Amino acid sequence: MPLEIHQDAPAVEAERLTVVRGGIEVLHGLSFTIIPGRITGLLGPSGCGKTTLMRALVGVQARVSGRLEILGEPAGAPALRRRVGYMTQAPSVYGDITVRANLTYFAALLGVPPAAIDPLLETVDLGAEAHRRVDTLSGGQLTRVSLACALLGRPRLIVLDEPTVGLDPVLRKRLWDLFKEIAAGGATLVVSSHVMDEARHCDELLLMREGRILIHDTPSALAARAGTDDLEHAFLTLIESTGASA
Ligand SMILES: Nc1ncnc2c1ncn2[C@@H]1O[C@H](COP(=O)(O)OP(=O)(O)OP(=O)(O)O)[C@@H](O)[C@H]1O
Ligand SMILES: [Mg+2]
Repeated sequence: MPLEIHQDAPAVEAERLTVVRGGIEVLHGLSFTIIPGRITGLLGPSGCGKTTLMRALVGVQARVSGRLEILGEPAGAPALRRRVGYMTQAPSVYGDITVRANLTYFAALLGVPPAAIDPLLETVDLGAEAHRRVDTLSGGQLTRVSLACALLGRPRLIVLDEPTVGLDPVLRKRLWDLFKEIAAGGATLVVSSHVMDEARHCDELLLMREGRILIHDTPSALAARAGTDDLEHAFLTLIESTGASA
């Protein structure tokens, strides 16, 4: 029954996913599946391909080959427009208008009713900042404006590129609590980070290096495999051992 198949579809299914940027292959035939309702951490050194993979997931990356299905549709399909939310690594909101005006603009683009904006501002704790111009906000506030825009329309897949970079520990904890709440509601999150410390918040980890996935596992299985509870240490150990056979 096609309907059932669709409902049971993985949030993401990639098979031999390859991406070429600037004439160079930067993702080399990745195959993996992400099941719905989980937080998957995308981790790995700078330049390993995290942003490129996220851009492919949301359908904005050129020169992608292989199979990539999102919520049962090909990545970038028009039907996914409201079902996939994306927070880019560099803020992509407008500085010269207010927080609310940004959300109103992006809501209109997505066909999301304006009534959704206030609850969302409360969710990211920006209710008191709604009237402020975005270019007067702090870094953490700016991040939360971008996050609110990515959450407009209650997307089923939420792709967040380094959403906690540069934030203080209290704010980082608040955001991870929010991500967990959103995942508990059934949405799937893919969150990139440089910081291994954040890996423990994820249900699953995709560890990347040089355009390949080294490991796809849970944080506890990863720690067990490396024989340490310190995920940073585990990652380094596994990079070294996998690097030797790569
Ligand atoms: N616009 C571009 N044109 C050509 N090559 C690019 C472009 N953007 C990124 N690359 C290359 O693609 C590879 C993957 O880059 P990507 O931005 O996906 O890495 P990343 O893991 O997100 O790094 P970071 O942690 O620094 O954000 C790198 O080798 C990078 O130099
Ligand atoms: Mg990046």
